[in-house]
Amino acid sequence: MNRVVIGLQWGDEGKGKIIDYFSQNADIIVRFQGGNNAGHTVVVNGKKFIFHLIPSGILRKNKICVIGNGVVIDPQVLIEEITFLRKEGIEVGSHNLKISLLSHIILPYHKIIDALREKKSKIKIGTKKRGIGPCYADKISRCGIRLIDLINPKIFSLKLKDNLREKNALFKKVYKTQPFSFKKIYQDYSYYAEFLKPFATDLVDFFLKVKKKNFLFEGAQGTFLDIDFGTYPFVTSSSTLSLNASLGSGTPFIPIHKIIGVSKAYTTRVGEGPFPTEMHKELGEKLRQKGREFGATTQRVRRCGWLDLVMLRRAVVLNNVDEIIITKLDVLDDLEKIKFCTGYKEKDKVLKEFPYDFSSVEPVYKEIYGWRTSLEKVREFKALPQQAKRYIRIIEKFIQRKISYVSVGEEREAMIKIKR
Ligand code: GDP
Ligand code: IMO
Ligand code: MG
Repeated sequence: MNRVVIGLQWGDEGKGKIIDYFSQNADIIVRFQGGNNAGHTVVVNGKKFIFHLIPSGILRKNKICVIGNGVVIDPQVLIEEITFLRKEGIEVGSHNLKISLLSHIILPYHKIIDALREKKSKIKIGTKKRGIGPCYADKISRCGIRLIDLINPKIFSLKLKDNLREKNALFKKVYKTQPFSFKKIYQDYSYYAEFLKPFATDLVDFFLKVKKKNFLFEGAQGTFLDIDFGTYPFVTSSSTLSLNASLGSGTPFIPIHKIIGVSKAYTTRVGEGPFPTEMHKELGEKLRQKGREFGATTQRVRRCGWLDLVMLRRAVVLNNVDEIIITKLDVLDDLEKIKFCTGYKEKDKVLKEFPYDFSSVEPVYKEIYGWRTSLEKVREFKALPQQAKRYIRIIEKFIQRKISYVSVGEEREAMIKIKR
């Protein structure tokens, strides 16, 4: 069975935990887009692992993890991640980590451009300043540096010089900052190249050999951060939808059997941009503390809001989702009432269509009583309180898809399979 796991909101839905769960039954786990803007958390026996580039299946034995052509790689971060895992006693070598020769490399100037643009621009995206956008921009402009280029000293030197000519003029004239030294980058990146060389793989050949195995594709970010269908310009710079799983890894010959969408029982968002169901300060803060809603990558506070069923339904369609998993249901344990958005209105008129412009619309809510009991220890569907079951049924009915699991804690075991 080949599965894709995708975020249905603005990221941080708990994809890492779900990937870890399904990687039990997978042979090959593949990241296909994004970069180290992702922070995917897996908690095993009280120990927390946060993955930025390496697929979250690496903790399971005898799996192969793959970083596809659609990913942008900060080599320094990747090497740190590999080194950290090895120190923790987790095996990472060329036998279980393969990186596409065609993946693009983040360079120091990408990070600086990302940060300076955020600082100087009137429209702030609230990016993670990891150089993701500028790296993808270079890829599309055809001046990017791929892993295959990085590991070839002559090509790397040529491409780096060419890029620095243009970038340094930009730093000097537009941003009035120091130019980059070729020598320093070349030296640092030559070390990274040597380190990463054994992992560099022609993935087409590799995938053809293993195409009968069980695949798990790990989405990063979330549907409304998608470059085309997200809340542009407050989005990331890659396509975060399930459709990109094949393109971002080069696997058109591997069929996708199941698309699993992940959503929190409420909503969070990091960075700027519209968030119609955002909670007022006090309640938002309560949820943030209970759900520990602080960024896994940047430690920034995550904005908190109610579940938006209108957006969730759109995300289900955009990703052609087969089933969904609701995470962090336990975070709602103490609430007297739980609200959820079931529509939008403009002035007093309820909209029939999906609101692309959120600036002039208001969410319409319904509410139910909460369950006001701890779900922490619940492991079976029948042991869930009635009101929690009711909430699950409301979501299913609205989005016209089954919820296959709910997650009620950060630990690996805190999963409830929904039986009917
Ligand atoms: P991702 O980016 O989608 O992988 O999500 P993150 O790892 O950035 O954020 C999800 C956070 O919620 C992490 O700290 C997880 O450990 C935690 N988490 C995941 N599922 C649950 C759950 O069901 N309940 C609680 N309380 N925490 C969860
Ligand atoms: P995971 O995979 C949440 C957000 C940033 C910012 C916007 C653009 O952990 O769910 P970027 O650095 O990508 O150019 O920033 O996208 N963003 C995320 N928010 N989770 C993520 O990843 C995110 N990756 C990017 O906060 O608003
Ligand atoms: Mg995250």
